[in-house]
Amino acid sequence: MSVLSLSHVTLTYERAAMPVLEDVSLGLARGEFVSIIGRSGSGKTSLLNLAAGFVMPTSGRVTIDGRPVKGPGPERAVVFQDDALYPWRTVEENVALPLKLRGTPPAARREQARRMLHAVGLDGHGAKPIWELSGGQRQRVGIARALAAEPEFLLMDEPLGALDAMTRDQMHELLLTLWHSSHAGALLITHSVEEALFLSTSVIVLAPAPGRIAHREHFDFGRRFLAGEDPRRLKSDPAFIAARERLVAAIHEREPQ
Ligand SMILES: Nc1ncnc2c1ncn2[C@@H]1O[C@H](COP(=O)(O)OP(=O)(O)OP(=O)(O)O)[C@@H](O)[C@H]1O
Ligand SMILES: [Mg+2]
Repeated sequence: MSVLSLSHVTLTYERAAMPVLEDVSLGLARGEFVSIIGRSGSGKTSLLNLAAGFVMPTSGRVTIDGRPVKGPGPERAVVFQDDALYPWRTVEENVALPLKLRGTPPAARREQARRMLHAVGLDGHGAKPIWELSGGQRQRVGIARALAAEPEFLLMDEPLGALDAMTRDQMHELLLTLWHSSHAGALLITHSVEEALFLSTSVIVLAPAPGRIAHREHFDFGRRFLAGEDPRRLKSDPAFIAARERLVAAIHEREPQ
């Protein structure tokens, strides 16, 4: 089983007086769903960029199965907050792009792109240019593209931040289903405590200045949803509400007055 891990990672940006992340350790195995929450500027995106291999730690190690991460790699797919799609290409071309870069033959990548578009509920949209889609549809194209290359790890930086509440709820259920069927390890950065709680097998709270892990807790609401429980009932479960309060308190602990 593959594991992406950060071990005692400290990151100090050039010319910065203070580290943005200090002594952060976490592991993400395939089949796990880990969310990172915390105040703005606590280092969430920096942490994801380390896991993606876009930036290197100042000290400590980022590894996959013990091998150091030296840059981005095909076993890790990233979904950004702004959809980062190519507006002049069609939906299908956008989804197939990672496969094209990897040298998959055209017929096979079309087939895989169609399968992914079906999985995210966008059957029949493949030939449209991106600019014809709604925000929620674009976000689904981004997720389809990330999953098209069958990555071992799916790294997402506030992928649903721009969506309305109802679309967001639908995306939660879709994300859980895709995560489950892809067997990927998912790392999600989010501002929504409820989103983290509903989706994740574990939630990590980052405290700011310097960014460090303040709280870590395991949950099973997402697995219970996948096992057939009603999502609205799960979210009004007293255990869910109590957990939400604990996470909110952990985020706001030692907040400057
Ligand atoms: N490339 C960079 N160079 C220098 N400083 C940076 C860089 N990227 C981020 N920072 C700084 O590091 C700190 C943490 O930024 P980061 O983007 O990781 O926070 P975040 O938790 O994702 O915040 P938000 O919730 O607002 O997205 C901020 O003070 C930011 O200004
Ligand atoms: Mg961020």
